[in-house]
Amino acid sequence: MKLIHAGSSRLVEDALSGRLPHHKLPEHGVGGDVASDLIKNELLLDGSARLNLATFVTTWMPPAGAELMAATADKNMIDKDEYPQTAEIEARCVHILADLWHAPDGEAVGTSTTGSSEAAMLGGMALKWRWRERLRKEARETDRPNLVMGANVQVCWEKFCRYWDVEPRLVPMEGDRFHLTAAEAAQRCDENTIGVVAILGSTFDGSYEPVQEISEALDQLAARGGPDVPLHVDAASGGFVAPFVQPDLVWDFQIERVQSINASGHKYGLVYPGVGWALWRSKEALPDDLIFDVNYLGGSMPTFALNFSRPGSEVVAQYFNFLSLGREGFEVVQRTTGDIATRIAHEIAGMGPYWLLTDGSELPVFAFALNGDVKNYTVFDVASQLRERGWLVPAYTFPENRQDLSVLRVVVRAGMTQDMADLFVEDLRKTTETLESLDSPLPQRSAEERAGFKH
Ligand SMILES: Cc1ncc(COP(=O)(O)O)c(C=O)c1O
Repeated sequence: MKLIHAGSSRLVEDALSGRLPHHKLPEHGVGGDVASDLIKNELLLDGSARLNLATFVTTWMPPAGAELMAATADKNMIDKDEYPQTAEIEARCVHILADLWHAPDGEAVGTSTTGSSEAAMLGGMALKWRWRERLRKEARETDRPNLVMGANVQVCWEKFCRYWDVEPRLVPMEGDRFHLTAAEAAQRCDENTIGVVAILGSTFDGSYEPVQEISEALDQLAARGGPDVPLHVDAASGGFVAPFVQPDLVWDFQIERVQSINASGHKYGLVYPGVGWALWRSKEALPDDLIFDVNYLGGSMPTFALNFSRPGSEVVAQYFNFLSLGREGFEVVQRTTGDIATRIAHEIAGMGPYWLLTDGSELPVFAFALNGDVKNYTVFDVASQLRERGWLVPAYTFPENRQDLSVLRVVVRAGMTQDMADLFVEDLRKTTETLESLDSPLPQRSAEERAGFKH
């Protein structure tokens, strides 16, 4: 104890003079309480998670859920043998999602992941493996696979293409078309297309891509003698929104061409990071040679994942949300979040200098831009002024073909109350008034600053 105390006072002194260890393990520890205090103090410099309107990822859980996560932090998801009930809970979550996404009765297979990025890798691999198997049977070359998707895809799909040697066929934005459409998708498919990715909804503006129309265009392509291209839906956010807010929208396994779906439990699945889900409509959609068997209660448990060890507590928390909220509770949470998003969007539209690309009526996410006649400031200035008030609202430029368009994006999540929404609108109104009163333009920001936000 004495040693720890001696160490702690030295380290506290160091902390006060800004010398916490950065590169080397300290010779003496300071003990848990002091270390925790020092780290908490340092983390005060992070933005406030609740004022972070940039992220899609959960920043608030009810105390009972957070406590359950802490109580299950010692569980390793891969230890199916040691923690069979955690494995059972994972399987229940897969069944619940399969039901929510209208998978054919009892046929879907799936797994939890660390998030949608891992789930996208798994979905993409299954598409590539199936395409290769098909071409090999026909004794054809398999060295030039491609994947068709909109230029608005999240970076995980470009990663998938680079890591697994697949050509990304990105359909550029054009005019007011900010995501993939049916005609564009079908046009770019050929015999080497492993699949089309449709997004529910787009990271750039929260809009839903027309999954059913894309599927119909692919049906027509196949009927004309063209390639028969499977569809994967990246429902990172929408997978937990559409079933509750747009229950009549057809986007999921109701569409036969949809072979697989990914979603992030840690986005609108309302769990702290990181948990995601990958589901296939049937065993046939997931090639056998991608599945590994791990020992499970003396038997064998099939797994398909990139990670081996990973936390079980997020999966437990996902089940907690299903159990504590039920369908009705999810509906209330997602509808309330959606109402707050559309209300903020319409207030912003009424402020004068802004126009809305989307209004939060699909995902509770919307993007807005400045009217062309605003010359003295940019969306980057708006974002930096809001940051002074603690609000984290990203400003960014759209990709190729619409690099002229810079927007701000607001992601509304559970935990954003009406009162907080009012405060945000008022702060934005004041910021806008200040910027509107400028009589000459603010200095231009560098290209790096403009490109600073990563989706
Ligand atoms: C459409 C889409 N796909 C994939 C991802 C990656 O998800 P994750 O952060 O769960 O890996 C995101 C994240 O924002 C997303 O919006």
